[in-house]
Amino acid sequence: MMRVLRVAIAKGRLERKLTELFSARGVDCTALQNPGRRLILPFGKWEAVLAKAPDVLTYVEHGTCDFGIVGKDTILEHGGSFYELLDLGLGKCRFSLAAAKGSDFFGNYGHKRIASKYPNVAYRYFLRRGMDVEIIKLEGSVELAPLLGLADAIVDIVETGATLLENGLEIIEDIHPISARLIANIGAMKTRRPEMAEFVRMCEESVKC
Ligand code: PRP
Repeated sequence: MMRVLRVAIAKGRLERKLTELFSARGVDCTALQNPGRRLILPFGKWEAVLAKAPDVLTYVEHGTCDFGIVGKDTILEHGGSFYELLDLGLGKCRFSLAAAKGSDFFGNYGHKRIASKYPNVAYRYFLRRGMDVEIIKLEGSVELAPLLGLADAIVDIVETGATLLENGLEIIEDIHPISARLIANIGAMKTRRPEMAEFVRMCEESVKC
C-alpha cells in the first residue's frame, strides 16, 4: 500500500496560521495545534512533517515529502527542483535593503559591506544593480550589523517595520514580496496525480476564503 501524502511544513510562524486556514476547510488539525515535541503528525487524511524551512525544500525535492509549505524567502535563497503551485497568501512580508537612518547609501561609491541571512538574495539584488559589494552572512538579528559597524546596510525580512524603526534603521528599497507557498515534488505530481490534485484543490479553496 502507498503511504499517505506527506506535507512538510516550515516550523515557526506559519504553523498557527495554517491550522486556522485548513481547520476552516474542515481539515482535522488537532495534532498540529498541539504538536508538543512531535515532528510527524496526522493532518486531516494526510501527514504533516514539521521541518526547518530550508529542509522543507530538501524533503520535497527528494520526494520524501510530496508537498511543502514554506516561505518565498526560503525558496528565493535556496532554490531547488520542485513545482511552486500556489501562493497561500499567509505570512506576508518582504525582502528590503535597509541602512541607518539618513545614511545616503546610494549617494557614495565607496566599497560597501552588506550583512544578510540571505546572501544569495542579496548577491542577486546587487548584481542586478551592477554594484560590486561584499556580502557578510549572518544567522539572525541582522539589524545589529549596521549598528555595530560590521556592515553599511542589510538585506533582511521586513514585516511590520518595527525592528528597523526601534533600531534606528530605515528601508532604502523593497526588493521582493514574500508569502507562504505550496510546493510539490515533481514526480509525485505525475504518479499520484488524483490525490495530489485533491490536496491542491483544498489549498486553493482555503486561499479563496
Ligand atoms: C525577522 C527579520 C526581522 C524581523 C522583521 O526576524 O529578520 O528581524 O523579523 O519583523 P518586523 O518588520 O515586524 O519588525 P526573525 O524574528 O525571523 O528572527 P531573526 O532575526 O533571527 O531572523
